[in-house]
Amino acid sequence: MVMLTHQRLGIIGAGNMGEALLRGVLHGGLMGADRILVSAKTPERLADLNQRLKVRTTQSNLTVAEFADIVILGIKPQTMNDILTEIRPVLTQNHLLVSIAAGITTQHIEQMCGVDVPVIRVMPNTPALVGEGASAYCRGRFATAEHALATHAILDVVGIAVETTEDRMNPVTAVSGTGPAYIFYTLEAMIQAAQDLGLDPDMARLLVKQTVLGAARLVMDSGEEPDVLRARVTSKGGTTQAAIEYLESHGYKKLVQDAILAACRRADALNRGGS
Ligand SMILES: NC(=O)c1ccc[n+]([C@@H]2O[C@H](COP(=O)([O-])OP(=O)(O)OC[C@H]3O[C@@H](n4cnc5c(N)ncnc54)[C@H](OP(=O)(O)O)[C@@H]3O)[C@@H](O)[C@H]2O)c1
Repeated sequence: MVMLTHQRLGIIGAGNMGEALLRGVLHGGLMGADRILVSAKTPERLADLNQRLKVRTTQSNLTVAEFADIVILGIKPQTMNDILTEIRPVLTQNHLLVSIAAGITTQHIEQMCGVDVPVIRVMPNTPALVGEGASAYCRGRFATAEHALATHAILDVVGIAVETTEDRMNPVTAVSGTGPAYIFYTLEAMIQAAQDLGLDPDMARLLVKQTVLGAARLVMDSGEEPDVLRARVTSKGGTTQAAIEYLESHGYKKLVQDAILAACRRADALNRGGS
């Protein structure tokens, strides 16, 4: 594991995602709380973080940028420009800005900063909240392999991380950024079906959730691809075959592919400044 032995970390906008990364860094032992400073908008949120995670907090984003070498930008995309304008006076080439804001390019951040600041753009997903995130990141013009390594170390403690190129960030958004919602939606349908078949709601929820967890573990731990695992449980004339044939004849795979395509097109449109 890469240890961030000398860097200082700042998190501007320690909301859901920012806190997930913060907890990962602390619990993963990447660095101690004494080398971390976080900001958020409200004093209540800062007091809560300080009390629970014992990190120092401030309402001044400028102070965070002055203090830290690595600055995670965990704010919403709509507030990015205001915050970059605010911290711009203290930014140098020695900083590393790690943005998790959906849809904002490294080029945009670089232009807003005014100096040749290294930028890395990350697309995380919400399972990072439980240490099972899937993140992809890309480097801006001034970010080096060393910057990528530091970012990878931070993402690695909340799941897995892969490096990609900026032109792949919208497909990544459509696949893993938005992906948990596709699975939740499928769970909703399975729970409803279980209840329609007469299972009581608590039992339906428990069986479905554990089935999805078990299937995910099996596909990760067995090293087998999903189609192999599916074929293994599909006996000729059996129940699985009946269900899969129904899904196939109703274009299920195509539907899922089209949904992901729709998400990707939406990410493209948002990047072009659509609303
Ligand atoms: N959630 C996801 O599934 C997901 C997935 C991929 C990427 N992302 C990206 O992650 C980013 C954060 O999302 P989130 O779900 O963590 O949002 P969130 O919980 O609303 O967090 C945003 C944080 O920014 C703080 N903030 C607002 N204005 C500020 C300011 N002027 N200065 C400093 N801090 C400020 C808020 O402070 P208060 O708490 O005090 O209001 C809050 O803590 C977004 O850019 C989003 O695109 C999210």
